[in-house]
Amino acid sequence: MLPVSLVRLSFAEPGRGFTFGYISDSHIQHIRDDKFVRSWDQGLKRAVAEANLLDPRPDFFVFGGDLAHLGTRAELDHGAEMLGALHGKLYMVMGEHDYYLDMGDYWRKLYGDDYYSFDHKGVHFVVLNSILTYDDWNRRWDTPGRRMQEMALLDNPNGSPFMVGERQREWMRKDLDSQDKDTPIVVFSHSPLQKIYRGWNFWTEDADEVQKMLAPFRESNVIYGHVHQIQYNQIGNIAFTSVMSTAWPWPYPESYALAESHLPILTVPMNRADPSNERDATGWQFMNMHSGRIDTTFNLGANQNRRVAWNERHRRPEDTRYQDKDARTPPQDHF
Ligand SMILES: [Fe+2]
Ligand SMILES: [Fe+2]
Repeated sequence: MLPVSLVRLSFAEPGRGFTFGYISDSHIQHIRDDKFVRSWDQGLKRAVAEANLLDPRPDFFVFGGDLAHLGTRAELDHGAEMLGALHGKLYMVMGEHDYYLDMGDYWRKLYGDDYYSFDHKGVHFVVLNSILTYDDWNRRWDTPGRRMQEMALLDNPNGSPFMVGERQREWMRKDLDSQDKDTPIVVFSHSPLQKIYRGWNFWTEDADEVQKMLAPFRESNVIYGHVHQIQYNQIGNIAFTSVMSTAWPWPYPESYALAESHLPILTVPMNRADPSNERDATGWQFMNMHSGRIDTTFNLGANQNRRVAWNERHRRPEDTRYQDKDARTPPQDHF
């Protein structure tokens, strides 16, 4: 099972709902000559093949960023070739692994703007490039390759937090100004537009300002990649949901669970039975979006299936199976 997400938007009037497919974080990695890391290639190829079999056909597809691993032309071209096999309209999101080698130049040549909006059947979609950072940091490195490597590391004291940045926020403000407050808004970003864990850059520095722009709308949803794990959250009327990676899942380390967080209870550890199996805890996720809430069903293949649903009593989305600590399968800790 590979990570493809199918998102269904439902509305008060039956028959107006539609679906779109979401694939993310393929990390296509060049070794040398025409050799690429086979496992990552397989992840994307299979996701595309399975996405093409979806019935009913999704209205469009989104790729959520980190198509390449080190941002090279070879990786982006090879990824583009595989994505080219998708039948249907594709919207692209920029990831930091696509960006920090050449500051997004080649990606933009392939796909155009890295932030834009579009309307589809009464829903307003906003795509952001949320992985920008400070100019000083960008200029700090003697080679583009070094800059890419430094941004790719976890727990890196040389790292720098992601941000949407003032220019894009200004654009977004104007873009949203023209929308009725009853129009459902869906935002696609690569990094979470919330502050989760700074050490791993599960973090967007100006998330609060972006959230403020979404707050006046009756329903808004943010869908993001980057974290390679199951995450969900609700802040006011904004529902946040991550999509999984076709390459590998990240574990939930102790340090992460104990980290200072600006969030309420975010998620329940994934019960990843075998961390040495790179396909454990990846799979299909079916998201049902309505009224600024999401419920999601996860078909995890090598792992137990899960369901996350809005709990009206607790006013937050909750994993419906793993609330009870004693009922959880402890993850193995060998690697
Ligand atoms: Fe990624
Ligand atoms: Fe990323």
